[in-house]
Order: sequence, then structure tokens, then C-alpha cells
Amino acid sequence: MLKGKKIVVGITGSIAAYKIPLLVRLLIRAGAEVRVIMTPVATDFVTPLTLSTLSQHPVIIDPFKETSGEWNNHVELGSWADLMMFAPVTANTLGKMVNGIADNFVITAYLSAKCPVFIAPAMDLDMYGHPSTQRNISTLKSFGNHIIEPQVGELASGLTGPGRMEEPEEMLKAITGFFSAQQSLLKKKVLITAGPTHERIDPVRFIGNYSTGKMGMSLAICAAERGAEVTLITGPVSLDACHPGIRRIGVVSAGEMYTACMAEAPQADIVIMAAAVADYSVSSTSPVKLKKSAGGITLNLVPTKDILSEIGRHKTGAQIVVGFALETDNEMENAVKKLKSKNLDYIVLNSLQDSGAGFGGDTNKITIFDASGIVLGGTLKSKDEVAGDILDVICNHRPI
Ligand code: CTP
Repeated sequence: MLKGKKIVVGITGSIAAYKIPLLVRLLIRAGAEVRVIMTPVATDFVTPLTLSTLSQHPVIIDPFKETSGEWNNHVELGSWADLMMFAPVTANTLGKMVNGIADNFVITAYLSAKCPVFIAPAMDLDMYGHPSTQRNISTLKSFGNHIIEPQVGELASGLTGPGRMEEPEEMLKAITGFFSAQQSLLKKKVLITAGPTHERIDPVRFIGNYSTGKMGMSLAICAAERGAEVTLITGPVSLDACHPGIRRIGVVSAGEMYTACMAEAPQADIVIMAAAVADYSVSSTSPVKLKKSAGGITLNLVPTKDILSEIGRHKTGAQIVVGFALETDNEMENAVKKLKSKNLDYIVLNSLQDSGAGFGGDTNKITIFDASGIVLGGTLKSKDEVAGDILDVICNHRPI
């Protein structure tokens, strides 16, 4: 399953560290080569001897080798690894990872990683729910790290709630699932759009929408991790999608997005149009700031070009084109209408009637249609998981 895969396991100071010997054992049994690194505090919870015995290699705790005065090379470890799994990760370490505070070997190795990184937080429920922790987790996700969300359960404090580290068997599944999906879009050219567009009124005002680009960003990272060469065209968004497989083009208006998409779409094997493109722009933008007027003003809006319809119209036989539909009423009917009128292979329906779905949040609930009907009816999941579901449909339902 993991034959020949090189995996670094980084342990930090949480009681959940006692479960990591089992993780190491499972990884070795699955054929992986494992190197364990620990923070000094982690050694209070589980012994390096146990871990070196199981991994069949010395455990690195200190940046310096005590006996020889040499240093342990975190950069070498960063290049060696095919994957790094940090588990358990305390609130303290999450903060250090976000801010690059390299005061122990685990953090220096994290900062040197050239491979996918998985992070399994573990802490008490209040610490986990604190806005600092939640912000740190979101930031780490935006850096392209994979978060193995903690489970709801009994905690070391005696309380019950979210914060319990995921079980080693589930972590193994996440790792094996990751490696098996990794090749599914190898060398495929994928064009993804994300975020809103801003239609200029005057130098200080625009018409926009609430899209943050999260869904498109998750899709871009997920596709890149499956080996795709991703071109990500984004409207004005504050998020980042860091991955060497992603080439990003920033635009502002629907017109600019149209031009960028038309230049990129012919080369793409797959087009996923997740952007919330404005349907109207202002017919003539003012070069100077519009002044307040007692009588009010009227803006003349003109339709923008429908990018997806244009891509659908020029679709080549082998190309797969996917659209999104955000609906508030007659959801399925409207989604299927768009699938047909825009000549799409798939349409991903978001309903604003589902709480937790749509713009802004970290979760989404989708239904995917092709010409024959529903191909996937989803439940509420993180946008990263939803991205994986969408790409699974694309990879599985039609040979690419
Ligand atoms: N879309 C596009 N260009 C536009 C408007 C929308 O490419 N000018 C794309 C969106 O990115 C999305 C799909 O079309 O993938 C459906 O967008 P949506 O706003 O739901 O539908 P519209 O076609 O704009 O229809 P309406 O707003 O009337 O529902």
C-alpha cells in the first residue's frame, strides 16, 4: 500500500502522543519507511526508545547531536520525505507553524518540507474552539497543509467535545487515500476559476458579491495534489492557494475573467468554473468619484458575456466542462437547465436553502448532475472534502 514511501512523523507534547507508536507500526506494516521526530515535551508522553524501536531508526529530538556537536539536518529530512505527518499537534505548535517560529527540530523540519504535510491537532475542547486556534487551522489550510480534523469524544481533561486526535487507523487511511488519489490527474491541464468579480462603478466603488473563492481554491489545491497542472483564475480574493502545480492569474472584472478564460480554455483537459461571475457590469464607468446627489442616481447595467456558455460552445470532444449553480429556488430544475443550455458535462448545485452551504463558510453541501441525472448527492462536508468528491466524479465517470 505504502511500499517505498518515505514518511516523517512529527510528535508534539500532547497526551495523544501515546497513540503514535501504533501509527508508526501501521505505516511500517503498510510498507513505508518512517523517521520519527519529536519536540522535547513530547518525550514526556511517549519514549523515543519505543519509537526508534518501531521505526528502526534513531528518533531526532534535538537540532544538535549531543555527542559529536554536529547538527541534525532538517533540510535533508525535508527533501527526503514523500509526506510529513505531524500528530498530535498542540495549540502551541499550530501557532508556531503559522508564524514560522523555528525553536525546535519539529518546526524546522515542517518549514523545510517539500512534500505534502498532514497535521492532526489534539487539544482540549475550549482550546480547540478558541478563535486563535481556529484561525491558525484555517491559515495552515490556506498554506496547502492537510488538516486531519480532531474528533468529538472523551478528552484527557475528563470533558467531552471536539479536540480528540483522530485514531491512527484513520490517519493511515488518509495517507493511503492521498497517495492513491495523487496520480489520478497526472499531467492533466485543469482550468479553475474562483472568487467573485468586481464591476467598476467609479474609482472607489464596484458591484460585487459575497464569494470568497474558498471552493475554487480547495479545488485547485486538490487537483494539483492529484498531479494536475492547474491554471487558477481568480477574481479579487484574499486567500492563497500555495502549490507548485498551480499557476495563478488574478483578474478583477467579468470582462477580464472572460479574456483570461478564453486564452486558457483551449489548452485545458478539464474546465471547472467555480467563480461567481457578475451577470451585469456598469455600462459606462466614471473616471472620477461620483458625487452624492439629493435626487439619487441610476446605474445602467449591461449583461456580461457568459464565460461558461462560451467554453461549452467551443468544447472539444475530450474536454470535460464543469459549472456551478448557486440557487435559492427550483434548485434542481434550474441546475439541469444550466447544464443543458451551457453544454456542460457536469453541474455542481449549491442550494442556499442548505445551511452551511454556499459563500464564505468552510463547509459546503452539493449535488452533482450530468445529462442523465444526479451522479452525487452530497452531505455537509468541509470544502476540501467536497473538492475531492467533485474531482472523484470527474476522474471516475468518464475516462480522461
Ligand atoms: N458563469 C459564467 N459567466 C457568467 C455568469 C456565470 O461563466 N457571466 C458561470 C458561473 O461560473 C457558474 C455558472 O455559469 O459556473 C452558473 O452561474 P450562475 O450565476 O448560477 O448562473 P447564471 O448563468 O449567471 O444564471 P442566473 O444568475 O440567472 O441564475
